[in-house]
Amino acid sequence: KKAFLAFAGALAMTSALEAKDYDTIRVGVDAPYPPFEYRAPDGTLTGFEVELGNEVCKEITGKECEWVIQAWDGIIPGLLARKYDMIFSSMSINEERKERVLFSDAYYNTPSAFFAGEGFNPASSNGTRIGVQRGTTQDAYLTEFHKDAEIVRYSTADDSIVDLKGGRLDAIFIDAPVGYELLAGEESFGQVGDFVKEPISIFGEGAGAAFRKRDTDLEEKVSAALKKLKENGTYDAIMEKYFDF
Ligand code: ARG
Repeated sequence: KKAFLAFAGALAMTSALEAKDYDTIRVGVDAPYPPFEYRAPDGTLTGFEVELGNEVCKEITGKECEWVIQAWDGIIPGLLARKYDMIFSSMSINEERKERVLFSDAYYNTPSAFFAGEGFNPASSNGTRIGVQRGTTQDAYLTEFHKDAEIVRYSTADDSIVDLKGGRLDAIFIDAPVGYELLAGEESFGQVGDFVKEPISIFGEGAGAAFRKRDTDLEEKVSAALKKLKENGTYDAIMEKYFDF
């Protein structure tokens, strides 16, 4: 009996040494980006991705994620510099980013859209001023397909809204749900033109969690947790809270 206990002890120790220690998972996020990540009136970080991310972290560590706020244009460098171990921030999975980071399976997909006042036409943007969050897929798209426009780049999404409302921009180009959320209740601004999803090379195949390339173990755990949360209804319940169908 004694020999058996010693053996079991040795075994437990080996697996403790081999398994990576995820006591807490530090997650990089850029906010405000409603309905995905934003502060509630009491100051707590909330939103679709924050709630989903917390459920993912709980599956792996038993507790919520440790959220680290990071400006979008530094969000991959911050991951590579180990400020946090995962990005969960509506990051679209595309080829360019795959060269730098490892992605989980996609957990949702959303189109982009132009929002503007009357008179703006995305098909003839010559000479117009279009606001966009720096370093996003929307920035890459405007840079490639709207060379005739003046592109004004912002470090946060909400700052572009301020300038749109203030008449300093003709339009903004943004993930559609975020545009709808940030302009909710605004009579004079709305979506103009169709949703934009193409080309996939820029907009990617949906949003995924991102990791340092060698962190395959954490990526596998997060993809498995996302799969479980989709199967057990948790994902849909969180979705329903933040999106009206
Ligand atoms: N989906 C776009 C991209 O991947 C924009 C994401 C910006 N996310 C954020 N939390 N600010 O580039």
